[in-house]
Amino acid sequence: MSWFYRTFIRPALFAHESEEIHNRTLAALGKAGGHPALCDALAAFYAAPALPLEVLGLKFPNPVGLAAGMDKQAAAAPVWPALGFGFSELGGVTRHAQPGNPAPRMFRAVADSALINRMGFNNPGAEALAQRLANWRALGRWPAHPVGINLGKSKITPLETAAEDYSSSLRVLWPHADFFVVNVSSPNTPNLRQLQDKSALDEILAALQAVNAGCAGSSAAPKPVLVKVAPDLTFEALDEILELVGPRQLAGIVATNTTIARPTTSDTELQRVYAETGGLSGRPLCARSTEVIRHLHRQTKGALPIIGVGGIFTAADAWEKITAGASLIQIYTGLVYEGPAITRAIVTGLQERLAARGLRGIRQAVGIGA
Ligand SMILES: Cc1cc2nc3c(=O)[nH]c(=O)nc-3n(C[C@H](O)[C@H](O)[C@H](O)COP(=O)(O)O)c2cc1C
Repeated sequence: MSWFYRTFIRPALFAHESEEIHNRTLAALGKAGGHPALCDALAAFYAAPALPLEVLGLKFPNPVGLAAGMDKQAAAAPVWPALGFGFSELGGVTRHAQPGNPAPRMFRAVADSALINRMGFNNPGAEALAQRLANWRALGRWPAHPVGINLGKSKITPLETAAEDYSSSLRVLWPHADFFVVNVSSPNTPNLRQLQDKSALDEILAALQAVNAGCAGSSAAPKPVLVKVAPDLTFEALDEILELVGPRQLAGIVATNTTIARPTTSDTELQRVYAETGGLSGRPLCARSTEVIRHLHRQTKGALPIIGVGGIFTAADAWEKITAGASLIQIYTGLVYEGPAITRAIVTGLQERLAARGLRGIRQAVGIGA
């Protein structure tokens, strides 16, 4: 199926501008999401075999998730399980609706199976996302897997009041997701990545956990809050973030976001794309994101759940992330290049690897190569 996609479908899609194709695909999937029969038909082609695991206190049907940024508006929320995903991270969403950066803002580096984007958190705002999710639930179309929401900072909000911006989004969205990811690592909102500094992040997490506890009240548990980090951070900077895990009850780390680094290449077409401002994702990111995962796993002695993301295209890539220390993995660029059969191929390949090593489940494989 991946072969069919790569040979016939991808060339047709790649003949058009990448954001336009993204929007058209999401609109089509959104329509399918409203119709159980269409979702069943998609599931007949693309559903992944069961490879269940429990992480973050949540039950996942398999460890392969949809990365943030693909479905910023929850337009196609019911469809992701039908395409084989074991969980989805919707958003990034900000407190205030915003248009993002001027287009064009998403570019393909085809020879390297990579993308560059500088979307800048184009999104409908936290209230509208909450409404969309409430609608899916009212229609009985809530996705049959754990749902996370990626929280960003509104562009109009100064860094000094970022904590209030993030926590206001969490308050609005709290009832509508199973876990939340604090995105302080996007390269496309001016100075956002400064919020990865320990004291700034501490302030944001304190505010978020206060809202989390308040929303949970006495009858429910607070929801898992994770932080998503940039691959461009030094190990020392990552260690500082880890110092907040205990004091701020961090449930895990998502590693990693896109990179501002660029590979060197003599290919003039790639040079042209790599000259674009923005975050690079896909194959060139794979090794660095795995290094970050391995470092985080070692530093925490495997005690902190890590969601591994960056350049995963195959079961071998996913296995590398898991054995480096990731309990769950996510894909974005791999879906663009390999098509929707990628999830089943990865889950099947993971099952084979577990069986070949006599391991009972993904939990037994986490970090064995770290
Ligand atoms: C077009 C685009 C938009 C993205 N938007 C977000 C976002 O809103 N929030 C976020 O945390 N990451 C965002 N990401 C980063 C991805 O979630 C992921 O971390 C990164 O692309 C690396 O994974 P990949 O190599 O599988 O694409 C975006 C990536 C792309 C390509």
